[in-house]
Amino acid sequence: MGRFGDIVILTGAGISAESGLGTFRDRDGLWTKYDLNEVATPEGFARNPDLVHEFYNARRANCAAAAPNAAHEALARLEAGYQGKVLIVTQNVDDLHERAGSRHVWHMHGQLNRALCAACGHRWDAPDRMRPRDPCPACGTTATRPDVVWFGEMPYLMEAIHQRLQTAGLFVAIGTSGNVYPAADFVRNAAACGAETLEINLEPSAVISDFDTARHGKATDIVPAWVGEILKTT
Ligand code: OAD
Repeated sequence: MGRFGDIVILTGAGISAESGLGTFRDRDGLWTKYDLNEVATPEGFARNPDLVHEFYNARRANCAAAAPNAAHEALARLEAGYQGKVLIVTQNVDDLHERAGSRHVWHMHGQLNRALCAACGHRWDAPDRMRPRDPCPACGTTATRPDVVWFGEMPYLMEAIHQRLQTAGLFVAIGTSGNVYPAADFVRNAAACGAETLEINLEPSAVISDFDTARHGKATDIVPAWVGEILKTT
């Protein structure tokens, strides 16, 4: 067993920023350009499904054109080399962790490359361009939506995530501003069950005071260095 026991890593938009994918709340972030009520809520989708599909079609295209960076790659090395479980719980809807080689990745906010039928719950691989009138391959209803979690909806896998937070020896948050719950509470959930906690982010997050330690700077600098230290000492 590695020195820290099992490791749970929460990632956010900051880990994919240096791959060219925009964050949400930074200057120039997505939520400064788009109204999240229009493109990231069930009510916005009901009002204007074409606009919402256009937004996610564009993000899917950006994601396909992007490549994993040194931080994603370092986390894949950590999982391969660490003598214990390493789980990535990501708020990101991109697939850069998987493309870097990470195998245990849980997408709590869904995935851009998956489609969901709002009528029957069937899921399938999303086409490059999704349209509201695309029929569900299982039930034929035209209620196709991206398989992403919107504001006001329950994130995926919450029970399983809480179980893993309870048994983690180390919890690390990387590239997340700590503004969106329940993910922002994971540090406190893990700490309450005895985990050590580390924040890696460009700047102190909104929940910095809940962490034992922090390293601030670019993910592509800090994450590979931190992974190198862990793999050397375990
Ligand atoms: P945010 O945009 O809120 O925060 C991104 C964080 O990454 C900020 O604190 C930045 O300082 C940091 N950051 C930026 N560039 C970085 C870099 N190169 N290296 C390290 N850190 C960097 O994104 P999230 O916290 O992921 O949800 O946002 C959480 C959720 O809010 C998203 O999953 C999305 C959004 O609304 C839904 O759409 C449901």
